[in-house]
Amino acid sequence: MSSNKLQIIKTMQPKEKPDVNQVKFGSVFTDHMFKMNYTIDKGWHDAKIIPYQPITLDPAAMIFHYGQTVFEGLKAYRTNDDQILLFRPEQNMRRLNSSSERLSIPQIDEEEVLYYLQQLISIEKDWVPKDPGTSLYIRPFIIATENSLNVNPSCSYTFMIILSPVAAYYPEGINPVRIYVEEQFTRAVKGGTGMAKTAGNYSAAYNAQSAASTLGYSQVLWLDGLEKKYIEEVGSMNVFFKINGEIITPELNGSILEGITRKSLIQLLNSWNVPVVERKITIQEIVEAYEKGLLEEAFGTGTAAVISPIGELIWNDLSIKINQGETGETAKRLYDTLTKIQTGKISDPFGWTQ
Ligand code: COI
Repeated sequence: MSSNKLQIIKTMQPKEKPDVNQVKFGSVFTDHMFKMNYTIDKGWHDAKIIPYQPITLDPAAMIFHYGQTVFEGLKAYRTNDDQILLFRPEQNMRRLNSSSERLSIPQIDEEEVLYYLQQLISIEKDWVPKDPGTSLYIRPFIIATENSLNVNPSCSYTFMIILSPVAAYYPEGINPVRIYVEEQFTRAVKGGTGMAKTAGNYSAAYNAQSAASTLGYSQVLWLDGLEKKYIEEVGSMNVFFKINGEIITPELNGSILEGITRKSLIQLLNSWNVPVVERKITIQEIVEAYEKGLLEEAFGTGTAAVISPIGELIWNDLSIKINQGETGETAKRLYDTLTKIQTGKISDPFGWTQ
């Protein structure tokens, strides 16, 4: 790829690497970052890997005012023989572009940016931790940088990639959590930005999240914005249910994020001949399955936690205990298999790692 276009400036002051098991998720960053700029006349240009550093923006930069920004999240893993593996990075590049399209941000060259990411990872390979469950979390993002309060798409942007060593989301493995079914607030609506990975979707979820946490729940289960009937996501994750032996996940409808973990788990389930369907599913159907004793498992899926089992759902004073609050066998099998593929502990029949 375009190695001649990439400028690399290495730091003279490498930082001390932390004990990754002692740091909060996403709070420590590596020595270097990737940065490139976009202008209408030059397109994307000035690609460089530079020492990790603050950036300077004018207070009028559009990102601060109208939230024109997109991001991605993916991980690099260290194998037992010290190879570094990226998990389906081309999928993240594709999704970044589809989020950008929704936010009127110019497209990147996916292959070129993947090459830049690989260069950055190779410079930072010593930052990829080795302990079970640990990884290097990769955060590519694009911000609007034009200095203007005009309400229209920016004419300049900055794309950056920063890297953060992270521990297992749940140090003792995967732990079932208690979830509050949210009926007042909505995460996204059809025609909105729910299918894009953009900042506003996440900050708009904070109030419901904080209210749930005050009541002692870990996260909220999001219902559709129109009828408050159909299940969409859980926290910032996609959601799966196992009812009477069948796995069900809400179909992608424009307001649900197309999770790469979601997609990979569906492929895994298909390869095991476990019945899995993508369709609309109502909260009422979950209650009925529970009352008939057919609700076997529920779990959230995403890059950060991989799988987060749901031990209890609270809806209108009804407590729906799932699998006696324990991690179900499907969630466990999926978690074990996916994390072993990601870390090269078993062979990758899908060609997901690179
Ligand atoms: C994920 O786990 O996929 C997420 O989106 C969480 C991230 C925003 C920290």
